[in-house]
Amino acid sequence: MVLTIPEGLSIHDLFSPNKSLEDLCRTPNRPLGAFSDFVVKRLPFILADSDCKEILPQAIEQTIPVSLPVLSDDAVRLAHLDVQMAVQSLLRHEFPKGKHLQSLATQLAQRSGQTNIITYSALIFDNPTSDPRTFTQGVAGLAELSFYTLHGLIEAQLSDAVRSVRFTLSTHYFERLEQARASLEKAQSLMHCFDKLTSAYFAAFRQYLFAHDGFTGPSGVFSPGFRQLDTLLLGEPVDLDKLTDDLNAGYFPDRKDIADTIAHVRQWGSLFNLAQQKPILGKSMGAILTANLDLRRDHYAQIRRLIPGIIENSMAGTSGDQRPNVLLTDRMRRYSEAIRSLTA
Ligand code: HEM
Repeated sequence: MVLTIPEGLSIHDLFSPNKSLEDLCRTPNRPLGAFSDFVVKRLPFILADSDCKEILPQAIEQTIPVSLPVLSDDAVRLAHLDVQMAVQSLLRHEFPKGKHLQSLATQLAQRSGQTNIITYSALIFDNPTSDPRTFTQGVAGLAELSFYTLHGLIEAQLSDAVRSVRFTLSTHYFERLEQARASLEKAQSLMHCFDKLTSAYFAAFRQYLFAHDGFTGPSGVFSPGFRQLDTLLLGEPVDLDKLTDDLNAGYFPDRKDIADTIAHVRQWGSLFNLAQQKPILGKSMGAILTANLDLRRDHYAQIRRLIPGIIENSMAGTSGDQRPNVLLTDRMRRYSEAIRSLTA
């Protein structure tokens, strides 16, 4: 997984109103040839123009490959993203997917070991920073790219925290928890970079991120970092079982990492279990749970600012969840309770 800021941009340029996606210097990465070219270069412009949307099915039809070429594993995953972006665009504007596109989508989902929908993983981990895919263009396009990039940067910090907690659980070398806490604090400071995202630019691309056909849509619900940390820190059977189900359903293509975490918690227990056995550790473990809770609270504040309808449960989450605030507050409540019981 390569999680970097696109070349030529700095962290300060993310969400800049003075920069545009078209300023980006690209190195083309187009596994499906003309079709990938279409997704990168034309799709955002067609979607931006209300008069042009009618031509969408025809424009897709003209470039769609007759059959799939031989592709490397990475190229299959990027091709999956390209095809799923076309599917989301068609469905959003109430056009049918078309049998051929549907068949390519099914084949690519199978070949990439993923579920047959645009996934969080595809948007954040498979979307190349050197040749990004977005639904929007111009300044809005840069905001969309910034949204995905920032998720990736935060995931990198969460992944470091996951490694530190796993190490602590199997070695009982508790000093390593300090590193996990520092990673979570860095993630928290990155979460503040979303402050520059406006509701209008967010809404412009969020409309293309939705659930359909009985699949769960692209959502932070599938953040591998958060999901592994919840399991490693709290270790509740419900988290372990749900993570195992989502892994098997193809929502996490980087299977090994998640499977290792599940195995780790089944073998060593969670940090919360450990702290209950060793009360002397309550304070340092409370600190890491607090860092996670603080990060979640800042996440919640961004949601309240950008999409208050989620907090009121009057809007569905991109996952398709009809009562997303219940999910969000439940996670924070569980962390608060665990902290209280460790520090009491
Ligand atoms: C401005 C930035 C963000 C917004 C507006 C946002 C929005 C949302 C919304 C509306 C939900 C509710 C469920 C759903 O939509 O399906 C959600 C859930 C979630 N998001 Fe985000 N999100 C943002 C950033 C992030 C980042 C950077 C991550 C992790 C890298 C993340 C991870 C999660 C997780 C793990 C959940 C499930 C609930 C939980 O465990 O707390 N989100 N997000």
